[in-house]
Amino acid sequence: MTSPRTTLSLVDTDPAELAVDAIVIGVHSQTTEQESGSPAGALLLASGAESIAAAFDGKLTETLALLGATGGPGEVIKLATLGTVTAPVVAAVGLGPEPSGAAPAPETLRRAAGAAVRALAGAARVALALPLPDDADAPAALRAVGEGALLGGYRFAGYKTKPQPARRAPVAEVLVAVPDAADATAQAEVTRAQAVAGAVRTSRDWVNTAPNELRPPSFADAVATAAREAGLGVEVLDEAALAAGGYGGILAVGQGSEAPPRLVKLTYTPEGGGNGKRVALVGKGITFDTGGISIKPAQGMWEMKSDMAGAAAVGAAMLAVAALKPSVAVTGYLPMAENMPSGTSYRPGDVITMYSGKRVEVLNTDAEGRMILADAIARACEDGADYLFETSTLTGGQVIALGKRIAGVMGTPELCERVRAAGDATGEPAWPMPLPDDVRKGMDSDVADISQVNAGMDRAGHMLQGGVFLREFVTDDVAWAHIDIAGPGYHSGEATGYWTKGGTGVPVRTLLHLVDDVAANG
Ligand code: BES
Ligand code: MN
Ligand code: ZN
Repeated sequence: MTSPRTTLSLVDTDPAELAVDAIVIGVHSQTTEQESGSPAGALLLASGAESIAAAFDGKLTETLALLGATGGPGEVIKLATLGTVTAPVVAAVGLGPEPSGAAPAPETLRRAAGAAVRALAGAARVALALPLPDDADAPAALRAVGEGALLGGYRFAGYKTKPQPARRAPVAEVLVAVPDAADATAQAEVTRAQAVAGAVRTSRDWVNTAPNELRPPSFADAVATAAREAGLGVEVLDEAALAAGGYGGILAVGQGSEAPPRLVKLTYTPEGGGNGKRVALVGKGITFDTGGISIKPAQGMWEMKSDMAGAAAVGAAMLAVAALKPSVAVTGYLPMAENMPSGTSYRPGDVITMYSGKRVEVLNTDAEGRMILADAIARACEDGADYLFETSTLTGGQVIALGKRIAGVMGTPELCERVRAAGDATGEPAWPMPLPDDVRKGMDSDVADISQVNAGMDRAGHMLQGGVFLREFVTDDVAWAHIDIAGPGYHSGEATGYWTKGGTGVPVRTLLHLVDDVAANG
């Protein structure tokens, strides 16, 4: 299932004269008279809106305030222009208080662009005249506006059998007003925003696809087809190849389902070998997580169709890597399985010989993610990697500890800090978490090398148990980071900013930022 795409381009004509269906401007909220020097509660037009304001004879803020505008983040107020400017509609998007610096933070712009484009569904062509800095921050701000607009325009095609006349079509074409549309740096940001947002949208599509439509064989096919088209190297291990290769963890989880498991490997080779560094990306691809024999409660289980969000992010990020061609080698590993209860399922008490040769005692079949990831991580280390980034909807403990927005990061401290910084730069926040010795001690098994979870199934710190377990399968020479996205991978609430309902595409933008970081800085 693919959603219709929104296009993005730059314009440098006067926004007041643009022949579009709607023009978006920014408004700031002003809190106190003291701060603003004007009456309390007044709105402040953001830069970029000057020519629109002039066409309204100075009455634009007043009119918007009459219509209820406060300038609060995410607020969109639409106004018929009645011939004052070429566009028939002006939409004012709230940016919050005016920042002390020159322009709002990139994430503020990204969310505003997303909210505006979402609110303007039904309009075919929309122009954004938002405040953009004219200094060194300009590229990041433009990238954020482009990404936000393209992601706010995302809609999953879905499965309805009848046309939905009441549902307005997503915006088809977005123009961003800039000082110089021919500027090469600005053009490069548009290209990048298209590739990045395209990857986020693909990842959302995969996550939103119904789990009966996306089981390991069909998911592997979808990823392999897209990757071949993009020019990546593709290798798919089916159940026979997994058995021959000794991928005990992937096979154990997959054996309860009649849809057999897969391991997809995607390879990007840079021109001339790049900077010599090798990045491995690993993503959890449980196409549905019932919990298996340690079955989950029925309430909310449908959201476990998103348990392949890590693999979706890695697969989609690889497609963007193929398009953006960074000067570093990048390989993606996507282990895929369906975690089902049946007469052939793996069970609590089983001892599994993993791909690395280590033996694991299974205590809870619902801790399946780490079983498939351990094999993929071991394979990635065997293939050779300098940096390994793994991402997964691994534990409910991540949601308890950090909530629905902030991912948990565990691994080599230096790399965790790079992930945190990448998350900060891309609007996908992530926070470093420890890997304590006592948590590892609690996972000692009486019979095998390690228990899959705490030996008494104590849930204390169980996000950390996930990280501690995975560390066992990373070889010493590889710097690694585990990014637990159980919360941020899926958005169950109403759409907000550039987040639509369902798959979020987190952490595609972080992974792409990290690839760039390694390409530039080693
Ligand atoms: N896929 C789940 C984790 C999850 C929970 C993702 C909520 C998204 C939202 C994972 O496989 C799982 O079941 N984890 C268990 C681990 C436990 C058995 C150690 C959990 O979170 O309870
Ligand atoms: Mn599970
Ligand atoms: Zn799971």
